[in-house]
Order: sequence, then C-alpha cells, then structure tokens
Amino acid sequence: MVLCLALLCPGHPLAGTVDHREAFSRLLPAGELLYLPERFSPCLVCHPKALAEDEDFNVDTRFRDTGLGKNLHWIHVSRQPQGTNCSACHRADAATGAPSFLPGIRLAMSETGGRCAPACHRPKEYRNAGRAR
Ligand code: HEC
Ligand code: HEC
Repeated sequence: MVLCLALLCPGHPLAGTVDHREAFSRLLPAGELLYLPERFSPCLVCHPKALAEDEDFNVDTRFRDTGLGKNLHWIHVSRQPQGTNCSACHRADAATGAPSFLPGIRLAMSETGGRCAPACHRPKEYRNAGRAR
C-alpha cells in the first residue's frame, strides 16, 4: 500500500502533505477508555488496522520494542481493559494540518528507537532495532 510506504520514507513526495485536521476532529474524545475500534476508525481510512490491533512487534511500525517483543501501538491502543486513543500522543498541527506529537509526552526519538516522559507513566525507552524513519 503506497500510503504506508510513504510513512517510512520522509523524502517521499507525500511526506507532510496530508492535512490531518479533519481526521483528528472525527476521533472520539481522548478520555474514552473502553476498547472501541470506532474510536480510531477515522485513521484507518489510510493507515493499516494492524498498526493498532496486532500485538506482535513485527508490525510495520517504528513504535515497537524489540526487548518486549511487542508493538507499542497495540499496548497503548488495544490492550484491555483500558486503552488510549491516537490523540493521547498524536495531534494535527493547527496551522498546517501536519501530524505532530503532543509536547506533554516529552518524546525524544533516536536512530534506534526513542524515549518519553508523559504524565501517564514513569519515563520509558523503546528500541525498534533501528527501523528507518
Ligand atoms: C487521508 C488519508 C489519511 C488519514 C485519514 C490519516 N492519515 Fe496519517 N498519514 C497519511 C499519509 C499519506 C501520511 C504520510 C504523509 C504525511 O506525513 O503527511 C501520514 C502520516 C501520519 C503520521 C506521521 C508519520 C511520520 O512518519 O511522521 C502520523 C503520526 C499519522 N499519520 C497519524 C494519523 C492519525 C492518528 C490519524 C487519525 C486521526 C491519521 N493519521 C489519519 C494519511 C492519512
Ligand atoms: C502512547 C502514544 C501513542 C499512541 C496512543 C499512538 N501513537 Fe502513533 N506513534 C507514537 C510514537 C512514539 C511514534 C513514533 C515512533 C518512532 O518513530 O520512533 C508513532 C508513530 C506513528 C505513525 C508513523 C508510522 C509508524 O507506525 O511508525 C503512525 C502512522 C501512527 N503513529 C499512527 C497512530 C494511530 C492511527 C494511532 C491510534 C490508533 C496511534 N498512532 C496511537 C505514539 C503513539
């Protein structure tokens, strides 16, 4: 799927071109805790369902941890009993519509993964085995 390849390739002609404001406005409120796939269905029009719903770390995402052997999107979005919506970490830039991160999660990405220090849990790191950004 061309759109997914674009995500892994910052130099791709599509990079930063998709206005995400409309999709974010259609998400259910971030405070919704129950597992409801329709919470994030506005994103699945273009992004693969496996990103949020497959547990295995081999899923095509950089938000994974090779030590845990898990897809960290799955851990946050789909794991029972509660889950967080995409908007707990992602947002659309108000001026350009480009996807960006909430400053509050204090995310620092590196060549080999990243670390964050959100209000939700103690600072944590992930290693994604250098999956290209
Ligand atoms: C109309 C199709 C479409 C929809 C709907 C959509 N996206 Fe995207 N998204 C893309 C494309 C294409 C890219 C890569 C180009 C870009 O960055 O604009 C992208 C990029 C991203 C990125 C950045 C990837 C990177 O490498 O930096 C994130 C994060 C993201 N989307 C999250 C979301 C979330 C969360 C939603 C739902 C609220 C969503 N998207 C809805 C098409 C879409
Ligand atoms: C707990 C925080 C968090 C939540 C919740 C979250 N994401 Fe992400 N997402 C991230 C981080 C962190 C990255 C960047 C990982 C990296 O590049 O090292 C990312 C990357 C992405 C990307 C870029 C491609 C990739 O997978 O690496 C897309 C697209 C994306 N997220 C979509 C979504 C969608 C859609 C949802 C909701 C179903 C969602 N995210 C929920 C933290 C989150």
